[in-house]
Amino acid sequence: MFLRKWFQSKSSNAQTSDAGTAHLKQRDGSGEDTVATATMEPPAEGDSFPEPPAPVRDEGWCTREEIAALRHVRDEKQLAQVISRKVPGAGREEVLFRYYLSRAVYLGEFELPVLPRSATEVLQLSRNPAAEIDDYVRVIGGDPSLLRGIVDTANSPFFASLSGTTSLDQAIVRIGLRQVEQLTMFHAMRSKIFRVPGYEALIRSLTAHAITAAVAAQIVAPKVLALPADAFLSGVFHDVGKLVLISVIGNVQKRLHWQAPPALVASCFETYHVSFGEVVCRHWNFPAQICEAVGSHHDAKRAAEKTLDRAVYLGNLLAHAMVDEDLSSTLASDYVARASNLDQADLEQVQAEIEKEMQAYETIGS
Ligand SMILES: [Fe+2]
Ligand SMILES: [Fe+2]
Repeated sequence: MFLRKWFQSKSSNAQTSDAGTAHLKQRDGSGEDTVATATMEPPAEGDSFPEPPAPVRDEGWCTREEIAALRHVRDEKQLAQVISRKVPGAGREEVLFRYYLSRAVYLGEFELPVLPRSATEVLQLSRNPAAEIDDYVRVIGGDPSLLRGIVDTANSPFFASLSGTTSLDQAIVRIGLRQVEQLTMFHAMRSKIFRVPGYEALIRSLTAHAITAAVAAQIVAPKVLALPADAFLSGVFHDVGKLVLISVIGNVQKRLHWQAPPALVASCFETYHVSFGEVVCRHWNFPAQICEAVGSHHDAKRAAEKTLDRAVYLGNLLAHAMVDEDLSSTLASDYVARASNLDQADLEQVQAEIEKEMQAYETIGS
């Protein structure tokens, strides 16, 4: 059961590859995870190990240079004329949507979400060797809905002993600091910073995917010599760029009084969500290796170079494979899977573990 494993894994040591440089970090002073990520030897090349195809980009979005050249143009008719050359046949609204969206991205004309204070502080505590239970109690006690989630989890059938727990410090001890950090991040993902009218269903499905990817990345982490705790955190936030883009999309739609069709939203995600997500994670002061892993989760060649990046890349792929049989049956042909010496049987075993642990997660009602 994955929460229990998380609890048990508190004392497990991470492994490093001896084929590169290990970037060490101390998680805490109690003998917990001590190694973050390591660089890897590039995989063997050759006909039997072809390089991954380069990502296909929708050229209809403006480049940074185009936005810089047009930034002082205010006449929408003129803007539409210029941009429509990039997307022949597109209507005026789509053309302007592409312009304003690209402009917001490149000129930073949007508000970056603020991570709930409880999440930021728990993240800091998790990296502070001197942090004590009382510090967690103080932080979580200041966030009523997180507090309720932690106490409810401690009282769930999964963790509860005969007597119920009402105090926060008892709840934290019962479920373990690792679970507390994990639940805090889930809580942040579900907080109101990611709520945009009209996109509720999409946001729900992205959040569910993020949680599956986090669990998958954490399970596959030991197999690619990565630290499960960092794989989990990176997995939770790997697609945060999409969530932030949804709020930018909402603003542009409001400006144009026009609703972007799903295919255009998907194209926007494909073009911008990775770099956007990395920016957001840096803004939240996530450790550098986590930001990098978020930034490489669709780039097989780059992801294969580091242990943590491999875990997050594969976590995302495995999460998609959980709902896509075709993808599931071809996982072993993936570049990063092959670079990590994971065959179809290994990956099916990982998938079975993910499925089991997702069920366990659902049973505690979080
Ligand atoms: Fe993604
Ligand atoms: Fe994803």
